[in-house]
Amino acid sequence: MTAPEGRAAQRLDLILDVTRRLMTVTDLDALLRAMAEATTTLLECDRATVYLVDHEKGEVWSKVALGSAEIRFPIGRGIAGLVAQTGETVNIPDAYADPRFNPEPDRATGYRTTSLLTFAMTGHDARVIGVFQAVNKRGGVFTAEDEESLASLAASAAVAVENALLLQAQRELWLSLVETLAVTVDARDQQTAGHSRRVTRYAEVIAAEMGMSPKEVERIRTAGLLHDYGKIAVRDRFLQKAGKLDEVEFAYMKAHAEKTAEFLMLLRFPPDMRDVPLMAAQHHERMDGKGYPLGLAGDQITLGARIVAAADVFDALTAPRYYKPSYPIDKTLEIMRTMAGEHLDPAVMAAVERALPSLVATVDELKSTWPQAGDQGMGSLQEASQLSERDRTPS
Ligand SMILES: [Fe+2]
Ligand SMILES: [Fe+2]
Repeated sequence: MTAPEGRAAQRLDLILDVTRRLMTVTDLDALLRAMAEATTTLLECDRATVYLVDHEKGEVWSKVALGSAEIRFPIGRGIAGLVAQTGETVNIPDAYADPRFNPEPDRATGYRTTSLLTFAMTGHDARVIGVFQAVNKRGGVFTAEDEESLASLAASAAVAVENALLLQAQRELWLSLVETLAVTVDARDQQTAGHSRRVTRYAEVIAAEMGMSPKEVERIRTAGLLHDYGKIAVRDRFLQKAGKLDEVEFAYMKAHAEKTAEFLMLLRFPPDMRDVPLMAAQHHERMDGKGYPLGLAGDQITLGARIVAAADVFDALTAPRYYKPSYPIDKTLEIMRTMAGEHLDPAVMAAVERALPSLVATVDELKSTWPQAGDQGMGSLQEASQLSERDRTPS
């Protein structure tokens, strides 16, 4: 093998190796960083940036380094913007001799750009989806061979980028669907306006306090958003009754937990979210087995459901309802302490106590989402000041 052949084989190995690695990265920011690193190694240059094209906004964007802010500029502006627009490669041996080069960033940072290779990455439909920009080739200028290497890298990187974009779009669709369901059910009844989202925030604080993993916290968030979804099937006259429900009415009201399970069974949850319907459907079970719909006790109830249950009670007490005013935090805690053991999980209650400062801050932040006195059906909140049975059985 001749020396140039050996070098070509080495480059090919490197491209294959990088491709394999890129395929495992599904987070867009991480992918941008990995592609930039790969470009620097492959082309033996000083630095590289990979931009993605946001066709909806007509912009090009990137994150230059870990944790740094996103940079965005219109398609067509600067060399990267131009390449995003035309798809043509721009190889500049001497930046300062080229009128297309903008020396402003160099001036601001003290960096000195000499050579630049800017290359378009095309997606499966032949549209430009990104731009590679390699800066300052070590010991020379970027060659035709560099352009070829970058073409190979860009081809495989495009698959990884499109994959990551698809995953991101799917995730955004999923999150917005769940949020929309929560908003829809909360809108059924003025007194529970914002309830599902507040329960979600409180449950998130409690779960994090209990040391749960980010994935587990996300499952609990989803269960919080959907826990009362079954209320969509509860008739207005029970859901919106201002005052105490009689036994028959309460039985109707209670059916919402079962309905939550029934409806959520129809939704195809992502594999890592499969236990969310169960968590949501169990939010009225009690530690002593006297809850509903199934009368499960202790650890028969998923931990997620026990957390959502505490967050649910917390919101029922701190926010105003038809039949009670907003309770201050000390009264809320006093009531919840009496519920620990029989109704609420003592371990979850302990986390509520520990997380109190964040819970209080979250209540303050969410106060604006509370139903207001004077809203339809809210009546005068001062009428009910006694702790009612309904406080202990939040819906
Ligand atoms: Fe409920
Ligand atoms: Fe609830």
